[in-house]
Amino acid sequence: MPADKSEKTAAVKKTAAEPKTAPVKNVKAAAETKAAPAKKTKVPAEPKAEAEKKPKAVKAKKTETVKKAAAEAAPVGAVPVESAPVEAAPVEEPAETTPRRSVAFIGSECYPFVKTGGLGDVMYALPKALVKHNCDVKVILPRYRCIPWEYQQKMVYRGAFGMDLCADGRSYYVGIMEYVWDGVVYDFIDNEEFFNSGNPYTNLVDDIPKYCYFAKAALAALNYMDWIPDIIHCHDWQAALVPVYLRTLFDNTKLSRARTILTIHNLKFQGVYNIPTIKYWSGLPDYVFNKDALTVNWVDANMLKGGLTYSNAITTVSPTYAWEIQTPAYGENLDPHLRYHAGKLRGIVNGIDYDIWNPQTDKNVPHNYGADDVLEKKKANKRALQEELGLQVDDGKLVIGLISRLTDQKGLDLVNAIMPQIVDEYTQVVILGTGDPMYENSFRYYENAYRGSVCSCIMYDEARSHRIYAGADALLVPSRFEPCGLTQLNAMRYGTIPIVRETGGLKDTVEPYNMFTNTGNGFTFDRYDAGLLLDAINRAKTLYFENRWCWDEMVRRDMDKDVSWDSSAAQYKELYLQLT
Ligand code: ADP
Ligand code: GLC
Repeated sequence: MPADKSEKTAAVKKTAAEPKTAPVKNVKAAAETKAAPAKKTKVPAEPKAEAEKKPKAVKAKKTETVKKAAAEAAPVGAVPVESAPVEAAPVEEPAETTPRRSVAFIGSECYPFVKTGGLGDVMYALPKALVKHNCDVKVILPRYRCIPWEYQQKMVYRGAFGMDLCADGRSYYVGIMEYVWDGVVYDFIDNEEFFNSGNPYTNLVDDIPKYCYFAKAALAALNYMDWIPDIIHCHDWQAALVPVYLRTLFDNTKLSRARTILTIHNLKFQGVYNIPTIKYWSGLPDYVFNKDALTVNWVDANMLKGGLTYSNAITTVSPTYAWEIQTPAYGENLDPHLRYHAGKLRGIVNGIDYDIWNPQTDKNVPHNYGADDVLEKKKANKRALQEELGLQVDDGKLVIGLISRLTDQKGLDLVNAIMPQIVDEYTQVVILGTGDPMYENSFRYYENAYRGSVCSCIMYDEARSHRIYAGADALLVPSRFEPCGLTQLNAMRYGTIPIVRETGGLKDTVEPYNMFTNTGNGFTFDRYDAGLLLDAINRAKTLYFENRWCWDEMVRRDMDKDVSWDSSAAQYKELYLQLT
């Protein structure tokens, strides 16, 4: 899988897109489906729009009402899976009694179907947690070809229809394949033309049309299934056109009663391309291409910016990142826009799924453990890891892990700069990641230079990541910016001490160790500076080798820390209630 989202590669490819940019002819209104014709609406002015009277909560129909789709004729190109079993959805007892809300999650990846980073984890774990908070959740995803067959074969065909998309006047196939699991309904939008490449993200030339199609098809599918949620919760730029479509081309459909939330997982990726291309592919009316909505720099359109403008609420994945992105240093050129919309912006920190990340039951971990036996079992896991990776087997050494996409975001230039100072006869380093060849090669170099002490696994390997969380003593997350970060949360859950830069969610989730009060969860540094990272690592080494008792206490404290989704899911639920 690509380590980074496609937008990075795309800037240089703009010219290559030109052949696809046919002159905008007649922008047909939305679909032969129930989508309504284009209608002019004003860009909602915030925060005034927030003050508007909220429509009454719409009682959503239960998913069982969606029956008619199955009766439709088989769609072109659909895998014949009509007889495939749907996994039973156990009816979860609601954990609390706040009013029920129905929520459609729309995003581009979701574990275990397809994951390139933390967005995939969140798209899986948050809906599951919301079910316990009395929510009825449907997750809408693209049906990528790379989704493993074990899931593809369990999907059930729910129907298909044709949809207008862009100025070419064609009717585009939209199939709906459904899979029900853990109380959550997953609806996959099927179209081989857009989702047939091996990876979810390729390059912007292909990804812009792909996610214009996806955003519109997701709404059209909800209309088609007659499932009108209270909330449509969109994630990142790939789903950012959803609120724009909803308030324009879908404005006089039943769906328009829904309130929208756009969650920013990573502001670096915004879906920016020249205006004619996005206008052509989205089929959106001209008036949304103004500087308060989609337009940036007079020549480009920014899909994320449009979504921020048209959504009823914006969230991001930690309070600190919510603040940081309103500053020029972290705002990726959208900071003025975010400051303007600050009234509807808030940060809610991510959690992790306690079923998947549980050292007591984790099948990937050779020696399962809890807070009581972590000390001796971690040593056994460390020896197993050292053996697996060809490192010198010695449980007395400090093993420092790093599990990451290898991109500029993750502070890897700092690690590179000080690797010779980190590695010593008492310290080993284990890296697991893929991405930018520059980092892949530098870590390969260090593995060669320090054989037996450094291991660089240049790959994506979910199972191995679990064994590193379990077998390492500390985990590095020195990010340049980090909207939330999940690896430090996984680490704490496995009794592995995080060493992090104080930015974004890292700052909100890792309390710095205080040697005087013997409190805190990890080691931190503030400025983006290799010397300060080294200092933090040296403080960790000192505690590990000279005051093991305090280190061990921190290990147990971290394992006891609540990093689950419980409290964050409750905050999302509260937001859903406020909006409806
Ligand atoms: P981001 O979303 O920016 O990549 P996060 O910390 O939010 O960062 O999430 C990263 C997720 O991907 C974590 O679940 C982490 O364990 C996982 N991960 C990252 N790289 C790898 C890899 N090479 N192999 C297995 N899992 C990985
Ligand atoms: C993004 C961010 C990461 C965050 C994840 C899930 O990929 O880079 O910090 O944890 O999304 O929200």
